[in-house]
Amino acid sequence: MPTNANAEAAWTYHEATKHSYTSVRTNPHFLDFANQPLPFKVYPALEPSRMPTEVRQTGVAALSAIAASIPVQTNIAPDLQAVAQLLYLSAGITRQRKYSGGEIYFRAAACTGALYEVELYLVCGDLANLPAGVYHFAPAEFGLRRLRAGDYRSVLVDATGSEPAIAHAPLTIVCTCTYWRNAWKYQARTYRHFGWDNGTLLANLLAVATALGLPAKVVCGFVDATVNRLLDVDSQREVAFSLVALGHDSGLSAQPASPSPTATQVLADVSPLGFETVPLSRDEIDYPLMREMHAASSLDSAEEVAAWRGRTAPDPTNTTGCPPPAGPIIQLTPLSDAEMPRDPIEQVILRRGSSRQFARTPISLTQLSTMLDRATRGIPADFLNPFGSQLNHLYLIVHAVEGLESGAYVFHRDRKVLECLKRGNFRDEAGYLGLEQQLPADAAVDIFFMADLRPIFDRFGNRGYRAVQLEAGILGGKLYLAAYAQRLGATGLTFYDDDVSRFFSPHAEGKSAIFLVAVGNSTKLRQ
Ligand SMILES: Cc1cc2nc3c(=O)[nH]c(=O)nc-3n(C[C@H](O)[C@H](O)[C@H](O)COP(=O)(O)O)c2cc1C
Repeated sequence: MPTNANAEAAWTYHEATKHSYTSVRTNPHFLDFANQPLPFKVYPALEPSRMPTEVRQTGVAALSAIAASIPVQTNIAPDLQAVAQLLYLSAGITRQRKYSGGEIYFRAAACTGALYEVELYLVCGDLANLPAGVYHFAPAEFGLRRLRAGDYRSVLVDATGSEPAIAHAPLTIVCTCTYWRNAWKYQARTYRHFGWDNGTLLANLLAVATALGLPAKVVCGFVDATVNRLLDVDSQREVAFSLVALGHDSGLSAQPASPSPTATQVLADVSPLGFETVPLSRDEIDYPLMREMHAASSLDSAEEVAAWRGRTAPDPTNTTGCPPPAGPIIQLTPLSDAEMPRDPIEQVILRRGSSRQFARTPISLTQLSTMLDRATRGIPADFLNPFGSQLNHLYLIVHAVEGLESGAYVFHRDRKVLECLKRGNFRDEAGYLGLEQQLPADAAVDIFFMADLRPIFDRFGNRGYRAVQLEAGILGGKLYLAAYAQRLGATGLTFYDDDVSRFFSPHAEGKSAIFLVAVGNSTKLRQ
């Protein structure tokens, strides 16, 4: 029996993984460095083939790349160099730093605890300089390990109930998440991090795809068991979380095979691989709550997937889900294309790195407006239909923005205005809400993502929880890039869930805190 529709599991998980003043103080967890997981998945028996390392300069401004997407039916396929560019700028190693316990390999996108639990796989037909196959991306070697030779795209077409972008894609990137690599530090809250960390990675990937002229679509609706089997991951440890269709080939048929094969038939065609992988740690601690959440949000058949897809909200005219402003409003003043900084996407991704300290100096209303405007112009995703729908709402605590009184605001994306909810200096409160850290207290502005989970769960079942976290991660990743494109700093942050909702209430009554990004002037900024 499909379980996705009954959202009890998502509510249970959400409530059980909230941070509060008390939960943080009563949690006996400590970091066992002797048992720290490996940062990479290693297949010792498979030699990776290296990819070209030269970063092709597209010259496309980051602020354009994050805001736009390529029309769906543009016929184009990536070549190996484009594949290398997509992988490097979303999940490649961009910096490394020695510390007493070893070395940290920092990657292109921000990730909780720099633990990098997201793995990338390619499923492609024949591309220029890359034969058809299923590949694992090995960031340490900057190479690809071929897991299967031949064209397995039809398995993804079946798994997604013939999702049109997947059916026409020369290449699909499958993102998986590995529980233990992140749960070592964050315990059961890691399942939320899957969405956040996969999301920041996708913000980069989507922007680079746009800069390369590739249509891209994020797909969350798929038969989990089929995709996991295709990659041959141990689904007790690692699970497919999102797919990204890249490129378009109008010559491919979008029609499902008739009669459409059952998930069991598709699975039977995909043999297990049984490749050995190096254990991540001496031993792993299991947090069953996450696996329960994952199982309850899994889709079991192509029919269930096809029924899951569709309009985001029952009312297609309501793509924002926010009541009209009732308080004082401030018109945003974003830069136009002609006025905006033109730093290219490649440069901005390599410049990005989470701010470790903010100067308490102001940013301008134009900078803030440009970030909000550019980051929220729509994400091509199967759960955001029509294009431009959004599950999360943006609430702000403004500390230092020239031309804007300090206080709490809600962003009305459709009108490009901020509605003032309360005025005041809330630096201390923001520091507290961001888990008593200094960064949100010192930032110029803290941007909270909040969502009313009830209609999302009514519409998408438990899987809506994956979607809402992923969307917040993508929006947060875009905010990061929009900040660094303007030579500002940013950092993702975690938070005290219910205290955030209380702070923004009554306006945010009934909404849950999903994610937080702080923006300001970093005391250090790479060039
Ligand atoms: C979802 C998310 C949550 C984060 N939460 C925190 C946080 O609570 N405190 C903090 O200091 N950094 C936080 N960070 C920043 C990460 O520690 C940082 O991304 C990671 O160390 C990698 O470094 P980089 O972003 O400079 O590449 C967060 C990042 C993300 C993406």
